Amino acid sequence: MSARHRVVVARYLPAAGRERLAERFDVDEGTAALDRAELMRRVAGADALVADPTVAVDADLLDAAGPRLRVVANFAVGYDNVDVDACRARRVAVTNTPDVLTNATAELTVALMLAAARRLGEGERLLRAGRWTGWEPGQLLGRELSGAVVGIVGLGRIGTRVAELLRGFGVESLYAARSRHLEAEERLGARHATLEDLLAESDVVTLHAPLTPETRHLIDRDALARMKPGAVLVNTSRGGLVDAAALADALARGRPAAAALDVYEEEPRVPEELLALEQVVLAPHMGSATTAARDGMALLVADNVIAVLGGGAPVTPV
Ligand code: GLV
Repeated sequence: MSARHRVVVARYLPAAGRERLAERFDVDEGTAALDRAELMRRVAGADALVADPTVAVDADLLDAAGPRLRVVANFAVGYDNVDVDACRARRVAVTNTPDVLTNATAELTVALMLAAARRLGEGERLLRAGRWTGWEPGQLLGRELSGAVVGIVGLGRIGTRVAELLRGFGVESLYAARSRHLEAEERLGARHATLEDLLAESDVVTLHAPLTPETRHLIDRDALARMKPGAVLVNTSRGGLVDAAALADALARGRPAAAALDVYEEEPRVPEELLALEQVVLAPHMGSATTAARDGMALLVADNVIAVLGGGAPVTPV
């Protein structure tokens, strides 16, 4: 009889991680289309659960897993989908995948920043619709990043990498964070500001904070009203940081002028009022979607499961 531990992957884990796990454990992999009722059944008796941002790991799921469960390894750096307190109460470790996706997410942030500032989505839609009649001096005028004030909300790993990447553009960086980051201030020339001042002074505001009860709708009607009329808002963190209805209203009034979003509060639902606006670039939650990042995440998930089921400390606990 097999004494191997059972690892339940809620949906899917790239081969790099799945193979590493399968060398040691019985791996039960789900399908991309998550079926909650089926997951509740599959998870029973699991020693480890591999989740991702689309999987709500709550008390019900933990209870369905039962007392063997030792670790929830989240295939993401954000872990707002996991009820960490409920895990702690059951002595279940929780891990995430920091570092390996930092650069991929920061690069997508810069791509979205440029796309919104240079109206790339509008331009592509115009062309694909056959409405482009040729070069025009006044068409699709945007703004340059060079010389812009970029306000980074949350100077963690990803926010810091964004500041690093932006150095080449010659921007002035501001950041709002709970604590001062003196090393980043010195190395990157980033200036600390309150959120209110950052919103009022920035030409581009980019969000890099985790979703917590404190950050939910951090960018609400009042915050948006503080932004400069021509400003651009970028969000590659979690949709819940922004009140989307307030953002749509604010954009319709031109303040901010544009937005670029990779994340939404109720994914995969994208608010109709945002879909209707030309000046919003909308991406389908793809910040970490590079082969290198996703392989790194998968391997880190595997290493966390191996460490905990082997009786050791998790590699990247939350
Ligand atoms: C993806 O959204 C992540 O948190 O890694």
